[in-house]
Amino acid sequence: MITTVGIVGVSGYTGQTLLRLLLSHPFFKVSRLFSTGYEGPIGAISPVFQGYSAPYVELFSLDRCDGLDLIFLAVPHTKAMALVPPLREAGIRVVDLSADFRLRDVGVYESYYGLQHEAPHLLPEAVYGLPEKYRDRIRSADMVAVPGCYATSMILGLLPMATTTNGPVVIDAKSGASGAGKTPKPGSLFCEVHDTLTAYATGTHRHTAEVVQETGVERVLVSPHVLPVDRGIEAALYMTGITMDQAALTDCYESYYKGQPFVQVMSPDTTPDLRLVQYSNRCVIIPKKVGEFAVVFSLIDNLVKGASGQAVQNANIMMGYDETSGLLGPII
Ligand SMILES: NC(=O)c1ccc[n+]([C@@H]2O[C@H](COP(=O)([O-])OP(=O)(O)OC[C@H]3O[C@@H](n4cnc5c(N)ncnc54)[C@H](OP(=O)(O)O)[C@@H]3O)[C@@H](O)[C@H]2O)c1
Repeated sequence: MITTVGIVGVSGYTGQTLLRLLLSHPFFKVSRLFSTGYEGPIGAISPVFQGYSAPYVELFSLDRCDGLDLIFLAVPHTKAMALVPPLREAGIRVVDLSADFRLRDVGVYESYYGLQHEAPHLLPEAVYGLPEKYRDRIRSADMVAVPGCYATSMILGLLPMATTTNGPVVIDAKSGASGAGKTPKPGSLFCEVHDTLTAYATGTHRHTAEVVQETGVERVLVSPHVLPVDRGIEAALYMTGITMDQAALTDCYESYYKGQPFVQVMSPDTTPDLRLVQYSNRCVIIPKKVGEFAVVFSLIDNLVKGASGQAVQNANIMMGYDETSGLLGPII
């Protein structure tokens, strides 16, 4: 059975990554592409799509969503919450890549994002789209909030330890510049990002709230950095007070992620390298015991497992398809 889908925000980085994935997906048919400011062929926004058959990009309106089974929202946080209620009232399933429905406590959302939530009544309906934790709930969900990119890497790196430690956990996280999106901002200009390394939002990054919500570990310090590369996240989690030796630590991670198609636990002598995960939906985890420290490297591609790949993984589960459909090859 084919599922008819649309994408809102197709001109952005995650919107375009979604389109790449969906154009070759065996069960999803992209029938609508929406933008907030552009109408015309998608190939004029991004040359990579020239020569492929894709719908024209249209301005978003609810009546153009008629006949869609599912819609992906690839729009900035704070912009999805106005779009979701009419889509849900129209009976369309929603996979939202923004942060608007990830945090179950509206007060936490409002304090981190600095504005009032417009649709708090829909928060209980939204399932946090981390299949490794919520696969069963996603199967019957009509609305999924895809986890944040840093959040995905940090939560997957910490979950197996969540019953062992209450913290403190120090997370040194580094992301490629595409994590900030395509919408121009001074801090993401080439000359600002190229040939340097910048720390930002130390201890205040919004994805900290997702880590606390999903792992229950409250004593977490997140220190994010922008790397001068396009894509990829490496989160290094540092913990003390873990009494396991290397074999027990490795076993803890391997057992936790046994059977998870997109999480690969690798040996402690593996060099953590973004090339292990770039252009794939994999999360690579390297748990390492170094003296009294447990160090866990968790690597993803921010645009794939950190956003659009995970969105498709969720949609596969929602529609009853094999979870890996359209996601096993390199995503180029
Ligand atoms: N970049 C990442 O690595 C990443 C990872 C995980 C999650 N996310 C989340 O995914 C969402 C999209 O991120 P992105 O990186 O793709 O951002 P982006 O490259 O800046 O694209 C966002 C797109 O949203 C649309 N848009 C802009 N203003 C809008 C508005 N006022 N209302 C509705 N739509 C608007 C625009 O597309 P049109 O012109 O086509 O409307 C824009 O290109 C964000 O919520 C982001 O936090 C991003």
